[in-house]
Amino acid sequence: MNMRGKVFARLLKGRGGYVSGEALSGELGISRAAVGKHVRLIAADGADIVSVPNKGHMLKGLPDRLKPEYVLPMMPAPADFNYFWAEEVDSTNDVLKREAAKNPLQTAVAAAEGQTGGKGRKGRDWVSVCGKGLFFSILATPDMPPNKTAGITLIPAIAVCRAILEQTGIRTGIKWPNDIIAGGKKVCGISAGLSANMDAVGLDATENVIIGIGVNVNEAEGDIPGALRQKAVSLKMLLKKTVSRPALMARILHEFFELYDVYVRHGVGRFMDEYTKLSVLPGKNVRVLGGPAMLSGKCAGFDETGALLLQDKTGKTVRIIGGELSVRGEDGYV
Ligand code: BTN
Repeated sequence: MNMRGKVFARLLKGRGGYVSGEALSGELGISRAAVGKHVRLIAADGADIVSVPNKGHMLKGLPDRLKPEYVLPMMPAPADFNYFWAEEVDSTNDVLKREAAKNPLQTAVAAAEGQTGGKGRKGRDWVSVCGKGLFFSILATPDMPPNKTAGITLIPAIAVCRAILEQTGIRTGIKWPNDIIAGGKKVCGISAGLSANMDAVGLDATENVIIGIGVNVNEAEGDIPGALRQKAVSLKMLLKKTVSRPALMARILHEFFELYDVYVRHGVGRFMDEYTKLSVLPGKNVRVLGGPAMLSGKCAGFDETGALLLQDKTGKTVRIIGGELSVRGEDGYV
């Protein structure tokens, strides 16, 4: 953690009261002037800090940047990963791909305030307005063969639902495999890409999985392109107030790593009850798009690998596995 992160962590811990500049300077081994400089830089990143001579500094509002020095102290428990941040990038998925090509990475996160080439599933563009949404990616290296990693895409969906509920009180649902829905519209999209080594076998063949998470947080209606307004919504549009992006990201990461830890030991089967409860599709008529034949029927839930179970008109149950397939409700988006 850098010095600004340490100063922020102390202000966060003492939230609601004044943290004395003198005490901070003694604890952190830096001058009072250096403390003052860090406090000013944290305020320049959007935090509301009241500084009073002889009392100290009171944190009244969080900074609004996804820098590691703000996100890490807001995580309820420490987690071990490399963290890359930049104001604007092409795509946070590509940042991790490039970093992994330079140095072997075990677990890493890349976040940006905006993206110039954000990508959704199936190569679609992901509109990424600077400073409004959450745009980040997680690189993980699960010790399992590529054909066993499919269920990993369900983990971030559960993590996002848990985190949004905890941070905003909004109950979201999941549209299989990992669109997050609120008020019938999409509030978060998740992509997952596997990188495998074709020359290796078994566990060693999985090089990494990069999960990309895009949450519509503080976008106003006008930030959402006209063509998407029927289908997309932000948390701010639902709540009518601003949501802290770094606090939400910290919570998503916390939930993700907690789930991931269990996932690598026991598989996705452990979470299918929670996933099914959060899911908006069971019992609905759905169409499967993108496969060799157009399939439709009723969603009969999911199996322990995370596959969707589709009951066709004859009563036969077909397993649908993620990848490039997507499902649509027969009467609209969900
Ligand atoms: C979808 O199509 O629903 C998936 C959207 C994923 C968007 C996120 S934003 C952060 C990361 N970087 C990208 O370019 N895409 C993902």
